[in-house]
Amino acid sequence: MEILIRDTPDEVAVTAADIVATYVRRGAVLGLATGSTPVATYQELIRRHREEGLSFAGCTAYLLDEYIGLSPEHEQSYYRFIRDEFTAHIDIDDAVVHSPDGLNPKPWLAAEKYDAAIRESGGISVQILGIGTNGHIGFNEPASPLKARTRVETLHAQTVSDNSRFFDSIEEVPTHALTQGLGTILDCEQPLLLATGFGKADAIAAMVEGPLSASCPASALQMHDRTTLVIDADAASGLVRTDYYRHVEESRPAWSAVDGRPVEA
Ligand code: GLP
Repeated sequence: MEILIRDTPDEVAVTAADIVATYVRRGAVLGLATGSTPVATYQELIRRHREEGLSFAGCTAYLLDEYIGLSPEHEQSYYRFIRDEFTAHIDIDDAVVHSPDGLNPKPWLAAEKYDAAIRESGGISVQILGIGTNGHIGFNEPASPLKARTRVETLHAQTVSDNSRFFDSIEEVPTHALTQGLGTILDCEQPLLLATGFGKADAIAAMVEGPLSASCPASALQMHDRTTLVIDADAASGLVRTDYYRHVEESRPAWSAVDGRPVEA
């Protein structure tokens, strides 16, 4: 794993935007996450679109997950969230911003269809990810199958509680979701996981320095040879080997940008 530690959430957003922009410039298939963490990165990408001419016109996007039972118009649906926070403010064609159909009465079929659509698009290039306090990515809760495709998940009580801050009451938080499976996520070219704040420190420590285990679904990213984490010092505070991770970045040879590969490769 490549672990980039930044002093502040704003610096996390700039580094993450630098990485995403390399894919945007080649008109790639972007994997987009919701949640509060990536919002600053989206704002930085919107700024680069407006002020520096970064164009998303050639890009396609797939969301990571969606609540079951919320209509696309619901302000907490991820369909709505990603438009409000990001894609409505850039020049991507709205028709190519895809998300799982949370209203399909047969959600397992919606999951299969979504997984097939990702494959048929040629696969996701950069997959932006946040992390739940219990180590979930997308909505893959602890004990998720490590090789699963897009599927239906029952939300953990911790996740319902964490996400209730976006709803008027905890009773309004959906109990189920459609999520790219860990296997689907692992198929992407580069997973890019973002985390900020002390609240994520335990989850980051478990995913990076703990064992590969379904108990911490994010640890599945240990199996991908291009996983990049961009985290702030607070989220990194539970790690034991921060000196080494900083040393790796500081001693990166001029010919090597990411994991020994040129960024634009
Ligand atoms: C939700 C999303 C995840 C996200 C997580 C953390 O559960 N399904 O994709 O990573 O929340 O969200 P936040 O970034 O707001 O802490």
